[in-house]
Amino acid sequence: MKPELLQTVRLMPPLEARLAAAFTLHRLTDEADPAGFLAAHGPRFTGVVTSAGKGADAALIDALPNLRVVSSFGVGLDKIDLPAARRRGVAVGYTPDVLNDCVADLAFGLLLAVARNIGAGERYVRRGDWVGAGLPAASTFPLGRKVSGARLGILGLGRIGRTVARRASGFDMDVRYHNRRPVADVPWRHEPSLIELARWSDYLVVIAAGGAETRHLVDASVLDALGPRGFIVNVARGSVIDEAALVRALVDKRIAGAGLDVFEHEPQVPAELFTLDNVVLVPHIASATVETRQAMADRVFDNLESFFRDGRLLSDAAA
Ligand code: NAP
Ligand code: 8YV
Repeated sequence: MKPELLQTVRLMPPLEARLAAAFTLHRLTDEADPAGFLAAHGPRFTGVVTSAGKGADAALIDALPNLRVVSSFGVGLDKIDLPAARRRGVAVGYTPDVLNDCVADLAFGLLLAVARNIGAGERYVRRGDWVGAGLPAASTFPLGRKVSGARLGILGLGRIGRTVARRASGFDMDVRYHNRRPVADVPWRHEPSLIELARWSDYLVVIAAGGAETRHLVDASVLDALGPRGFIVNVARGSVIDEAALVRALVDKRIAGAGLDVFEHEPQVPAELFTLDNVVLVPHIASATVETRQAMADRVFDNLESFFRDGRLLSDAAA
């Protein structure tokens, strides 16, 4: 008998096909009455396949009395109720490391885009404003800010944060970071105070874990410490920054600019940001490359295959 898996979110079609061949797969998203379906059929399922964006809350875990494993497409665990899973002895698999490069690459892409006016410059050319202004463009187009050699602060020197820090050496940047605990064996200086890190930074990249503990860690006081010459980049979770405070700081020009991949209420993005040229906005695409999404899909599958074969996950969120 193939194990029965409950799928809570649409996944890449090749991953769905692979899962459907190896397991008995049921899409909860196809049910008109998901709660009714779970009440009637919950005991069938021993596995859940989900994503970091959708997660698995206590209500879902409770509705599946024979659940043994959750396999999540993504590294963020903020939408998975880990204490509820632990209480029930449910294993949780996820996709760490395979996305470090692409998330770090996008962090640098956003940093360069906002500092060097790439988004604003693109809009300027497409609108035909350059032709209207004539040569040289620099006489009518605002100057950017230098990235090479600048000070880079990293909030969250984890797997991805370290990858961001390594990228910075190619730009001859001075790097410091803030975590709750200093990391051993890294060349970058730990800054115990986030406010002091922000005060020191020209660019602050946010890549700490999401969830209740880090909610609004970056608040108005951190943004004021970053100051009118400082830029912020968020590739972590929208919840880590107080978004209302960020919008106010950007509108009032109390910080220089922002590059944002993630937002507090995705897919909603504050409309005030749409008219600001010193803001670069992208729709949560930091891991979204062919190569990385394939590696994530493989890990989702391999976690499940390994768990049902010998009870071990390749990437165990509890480890
Ligand atoms: P990780 O290795 O677990 O790193 C998380 C870092 O956050 C650690 O350095 C941790 O250090 C720090 N941190 C946690 N709580 C903190 C607190 N209260 N104050 C200060 N620092 C804190 O995770 P990762 O693999 O690098 O991923 C980081 C996050 O990026 C994920 O959780 C996910 O939400 C996000 N992400 C986003 C995308 C995207 O598409 N935009 C893609 C992948 C990941 P301490 O424990 O020492 O504090
Ligand atoms: C994905 C992410 O976009 O891994 C994460 O935590 O946020 C991203 O890689 C997400 O998992 C897709 O839902």
